Amino acid sequence: SAHLISFLFKVIKDVVQSSHSGKRTRRATSSVTAVNDLVYIIDGSWSVGVSDFDTAKQWLINITSQFDISSHYTQVAVIQYSDTPRLEIPLGKHQGVAELIKAIRSISYLGGNTQTGRAIKFAVDHVFASSQRSNLVKNRIAVVVTDGKSQDDVVDASMEARAQSITVFAVGVGTEITTSELISIANKPSSTYVLYAEDYTTIDRIRDSMEQKLCEESVCPTRIPVASRDEKGFELMVGMNIQTKAKKIPGSLASETAYALAASTDITENTREIFPEGLPPSYVFVSTLRLKGISSKLPFDLWRVMSKDKAIQAAVTLSGKDKTVTFTTTSTTEKEQKAVFKTGFQVGTLYDGKWHQIKVLVRHLQVTGFLDDQRIQELMLTPVEPIYINGETQVSKRRGTDITVEIQKLRLYCDPHQSERETACEIYSPGPPGRVGLVGALGPKVSADSSPLHVANIAL
Ligand SMILES: *[C@@H]1O[C@H](CO)[C@@H](O)[C@H](O)[C@H]1NC(C)=O
Repeated sequence: SAHLISFLFKVIKDVVQSSHSGKRTRRATSSVTAVNDLVYIIDGSWSVGVSDFDTAKQWLINITSQFDISSHYTQVAVIQYSDTPRLEIPLGKHQGVAELIKAIRSISYLGGNTQTGRAIKFAVDHVFASSQRSNLVKNRIAVVVTDGKSQDDVVDASMEARAQSITVFAVGVGTEITTSELISIANKPSSTYVLYAEDYTTIDRIRDSMEQKLCEESVCPTRIPVASRDEKGFELMVGMNIQTKAKKIPGSLASETAYALAASTDITENTREIFPEGLPPSYVFVSTLRLKGISSKLPFDLWRVMSKDKAIQAAVTLSGKDKTVTFTTTSTTEKEQKAVFKTGFQVGTLYDGKWHQIKVLVRHLQVTGFLDDQRIQELMLTPVEPIYINGETQVSKRRGTDITVEIQKLRLYCDPHQSERETACEIYSPGPPGRVGLVGALGPKVSADSSPLHVANIAL
């Protein structure tokens, strides 16, 4: 009965907390609670065939299951097209995922030619335009699935979609597709918005990436300009108001600026303002920092998200004393779970008074730590819970003492592949960017001069 009581207590607490937060944003296997109008435009031309058409429908069902289908959150429409588009399911017709799945299942195969441009135009003019929630909807997303070359022009219709802030994904299936056509249908960069499957039988392989991309599109609002490409993510330097609250100092390179966070600098914002839809299922936290002084040996949270009752929802904690970097996240079974990166030598260099870059790559059931572009360790996670957004998000919060932290960049990237592209170039001074070979030279081997804590770059 003690178990029962503690279980009931947890349930009550969860209910109370949920009602406080208004919503608990969900990740990974559960629903995305963003306000989306999502329109699937699926190829029903002769080349597809009945059996592959059924597979395409099942694929749509699979990727739709992650959304909370309701008038408050995601509404889905389905258009099947061949010579002409046919509106199979109007936006908002079905409330609830079960009803929607049933409706998708019962769509019958059309057959005919492939007029993809016409179908996109129909979606823009008649389906998105008919949304009853046009002033509420945050994201208008179209997913075009095609197995061949269009017999009409796709460029004008796709440009019109973008002009109306509709994000278009193009999914090409099979070998008959034309890459240039998919690129003109989809948003830029095409590495994000164009997906390929060899054929319908292997389309399930791109399900995870489609789910992640749709989730990113819903959860990650802003775009961070990174070397000519736009990355989805959270620019925390701006979001957390570090640039206005902290003292400006020279950064790792002459071209970089950092900010010193003294003990009295309070970097705290409401999580709801920073991550209004919670955290994406996968993300990359990146921070370039310099730790100075003896006090940096004490543990502090470089970044943390706390619920209203101060339970850690996500945190990156540095401890010079133990020479560890700890990632804390939620857990479905415990209060929280911690992944401790502890490899003495490498993490030890974090405290040598020089600029370093920490990267934490969070994926489904695993988390990988990097220091100066070098992989430290990969650790397993148990399933995580969605985060509460009713509390606060903070940067550089010490447990016990005064440390000065200097920050140049603070970001959260939503695409886990950004981890491969995010280099620690900015800390290799002097010299041109991109010289990864310098990591070893300026990282672990150079001896310490003991100075205070500086953060040059934190990105997630
Ligand atoms: C849909 O999901 C089920 C269960 O995960 C999987 O077995 C099936 O292959 C998926 N189908 C498609 C077409 O993605």
